Amino acid sequence: MEQYIINGGCELHGSVPISGAKNAALGILPAVFLCQDTCRIENLPQISDVHNMLDILSSMGAHIRYLNKNAVEINTAHAQNLPTPYEMVRRLRASYYLIGALLGRFGKAEVALPGGCDFGFRPIDQHIKGFEALGATVQITEGGIVQAEAKEGLVGDSVYLDVVSVGATMNIMLAAVLAKGQTVIENAAREPHIVDLANFLNTMGADITGAGTDVIKIRGVERLRGCTYSIIPDQIEAGTYLALATATGGEVTVTGVIPKHLESITAKLSEMGAEVIEEDDSVTVRRSKNERLHRINVKTQPYPGFPTDMQPQFGVLLSLADGTSILTEGIYDNRFKYVNELRRMGAVATVDGRIAVFEGVEHLSPAPVRAPDLRAGAALIMAGLVAEGITVIDEVRYVERGYEDIVKKLRAIGADIRLVSHPDGEMLERAN
Ligand code: EPZ
Repeated sequence: MEQYIINGGCELHGSVPISGAKNAALGILPAVFLCQDTCRIENLPQISDVHNMLDILSSMGAHIRYLNKNAVEINTAHAQNLPTPYEMVRRLRASYYLIGALLGRFGKAEVALPGGCDFGFRPIDQHIKGFEALGATVQITEGGIVQAEAKEGLVGDSVYLDVVSVGATMNIMLAAVLAKGQTVIENAAREPHIVDLANFLNTMGADITGAGTDVIKIRGVERLRGCTYSIIPDQIEAGTYLALATATGGEVTVTGVIPKHLESITAKLSEMGAEVIEEDDSVTVRRSKNERLHRINVKTQPYPGFPTDMQPQFGVLLSLADGTSILTEGIYDNRFKYVNELRRMGAVATVDGRIAVFEGVEHLSPAPVRAPDLRAGAALIMAGLVAEGITVIDEVRYVERGYEDIVKKLRAIGADIRLVSHPDGEMLERAN
């Protein structure tokens, strides 16, 4: 088992280079099934979710060649439409993108229902609604396998999403690019990673317009070709480091970012009292740890609203604010599991369904805690870096799903954090 050992209480200073966006990469990688030439994907984050997705592609016959740490060449000409490996798929929520990509390539898909972080019920009914609108028949077997097939081929149509869903929007795009005729997705999600997937597909020769708005039009084309594409920077990774600097105090710059993608996050950091400086491709946060953070209210919404993937990180900030703050989770039913862990560190908060009320405290105290999911794990690292003394965090595997080189990046800005492994009961220390 691996743990993070953190000795917190210091201000942080320095620059953090931001990696490629996890949620863009996880939609773009399956999309390579839609052409039979070689695609070169650059700025690919080295995170376990990406490794798992590449393993799945490889298990289906895709040829994958790493050009360097963050670039791969993928060719699926000889890929076969095999049932995706159950255990691999269960580990990865984004494996549902394989359904849209395989339907688009082969007219048929057999993929286990996805896993992923547990914030309560996470259905895929809107994905299925989209596939059926394009003429596919979809059923879910008793073993939790999604079987989709379009015997007559996919035919474009209009789909109105009942829920603004990132996954359904991207999955329907994947299925529609090679369908006959035009598909219109209405009430579509507008996240930057949806625009990135649309740009990748258009670079391959697709005809998609409107990505980034709530109406996306996809005109089906005959075939797609290989291309070279660089993934956008990860706005949630960047937002996490800016929230961290706001919590610990100091001055931290995230580089290689698109500031516009961070606007809803930096606006809230400013409201809490941080100084935010934006440049062309970097954002700096400056704050003295001797000044209390201002209390605020936050509600998570689909983009361009405040992102749910920054909600746990702001739970830490509101725990330290001067007064009472209300944090409303607008997307998921149960994304406050981390609050119990924060309480162990002295936070004062009550949770009622989708609302958490934080009574700010002046200090958090170190404690042994456990990461319940990816973003909660990042939040607990923030809390450990704020609390003076030693905090030990279990379940680091969650964090490594979405934050490339997090220990190295944190140590480069002055954080005292180590990754410790316990194979066979020994304590092995490595600060990678
Ligand atoms: C994507 O999940 C992200 N994951 C999540 O990031 C992110 O929290 C979420 O979008 C919202 O931004 C990936 O991109 C791999 P949704 P997804 O479909 O696609 C409901 C992270 O930390 N819904 O936009 O699963 C659903 O239950 C992860 O990086 C339906 O009801 O999210 C939720 O309440 C965590 N039916 C809401 O919509 C459906 O068919 C939004 O879900 C689909 C979704």
